[in-house]
Amino acid sequence: MSDGRSVSAEPHGLEPETVWNVQLPEIRVGARAVEELGCQLRSLGVVEGDRGLVVTDRTLVGLGHADRVTDAIEDGGFDVDIYDDCAREPSVADVTACLSFVREEGDGGYDFYVGLGGGSCMDTAKATRAVVANGGSPLDYVAEPTGAGEDLTESGPPLVLLPTTAGTGSEISPVAILSVEEKEIKEGISSNSVRADAAVLDPTLTTSLPPDVTARTAMDALGHAMEGYTTHAFDDLLRPTDPADRPVYAGRTGFTELFSERAIELLSGNVRAAVNNGDDLSARTGLLKGALYGAIAGLTAGASLCHAMAYPVGNRYHTYHGETIAVLTPASTLGYNAASDPERFAALADLLGANTDGLGTRAAADRAREAFLQLQQDLGVLPSGLHDLAGVTEDDIGWLAEQTVDTQQRLLRCNPRPVTAADVASVFRDALHNWG
Ligand SMILES: [Fe+2]
Repeated sequence: MSDGRSVSAEPHGLEPETVWNVQLPEIRVGARAVEELGCQLRSLGVVEGDRGLVVTDRTLVGLGHADRVTDAIEDGGFDVDIYDDCAREPSVADVTACLSFVREEGDGGYDFYVGLGGGSCMDTAKATRAVVANGGSPLDYVAEPTGAGEDLTESGPPLVLLPTTAGTGSEISPVAILSVEEKEIKEGISSNSVRADAAVLDPTLTTSLPPDVTARTAMDALGHAMEGYTTHAFDDLLRPTDPADRPVYAGRTGFTELFSERAIELLSGNVRAAVNNGDDLSARTGLLKGALYGAIAGLTAGASLCHAMAYPVGNRYHTYHGETIAVLTPASTLGYNAASDPERFAALADLLGANTDGLGTRAAADRAREAFLQLQQDLGVLPSGLHDLAGVTEDDIGWLAEQTVDTQQRLLRCNPRPVTAADVASVFRDALHNWG
């Protein structure tokens, strides 16, 4: 696979990229869409009497959301078991536990899978289905050198995902993120075979989210949208000799830009209302659609520096992904990267609702960072920087920068501005204190 960023980097015999494509699950969106789960499963080839597994956690069982899902499945004429042991930020061991359940309780495998929850539950469901279908263990399919890097040749039976947060985008993404505990890193099983067959987005599954979870998951979604909006263009890459080798993160296109723009408006325009009143179904719907659009944009075009820096922070301090993205975005996406394309960042400021009347391009671009910081402070539930988030100090920056450069080249290659280890360190330093 070519990872060359510049068509003039060296003699290579390849042409600039001219083609983009988009792979997405079937998508169903709206209040009480969960009640249409039986119809959704039938459209994927599930037939009466088939037996499936709902992969979720105990919180969602306690809230009654798991019952709504199993009722809809049974009303469709299907049998269903439930696995409710999903852990936050799942590890290889957590997925292995779910695999053991499937191999013991499900006679080696189910006819369909349903993931219900935030990114952790959905990623557990994605990884489990993939490994059951292809055999072996999760690390067989994690990229080298952490895992064996084997290809997933089988997609497995149908998988439907129902997000209960508006943030991760896991419901449409081709990646299941797992932590590898003994190496203190997070890695992805990344393949189009991992992607779900359908996503059912029902805002009534999100009204019970408390303000802090609502805020941080929305920040993750905004991160996807803004990183996708500001990453390199698809035709900055080289066209691969074999189209199957086109990277999963292929750069922004006219298609992804449409979704980025609307996502940024929907997320920044609805998150205050959803945090202030969790039962505001209109705001919840706006956030859920914004998170979907942000994922379509960002997880197709590609996340960049901010997500690359977030993984070492999450591994070391066990912070929530959304909060980590929230504290890193001002210094990375909206700080360091703003020099890559001031006109684009000036447009981003407008999308975030900033007043840029009468400003020159550079001054207008700076308003994007200011508007985002104001939004975070208005929400009142987010940490004010890396120090407030996890007690990170100057002494920790060297290790964090080194880890970012050593383990996150997959994302750093997508960054719109070249980045060295010293650059990463200075961005971490800039993110220690965002306000206060
Ligand atoms: Fe994310």
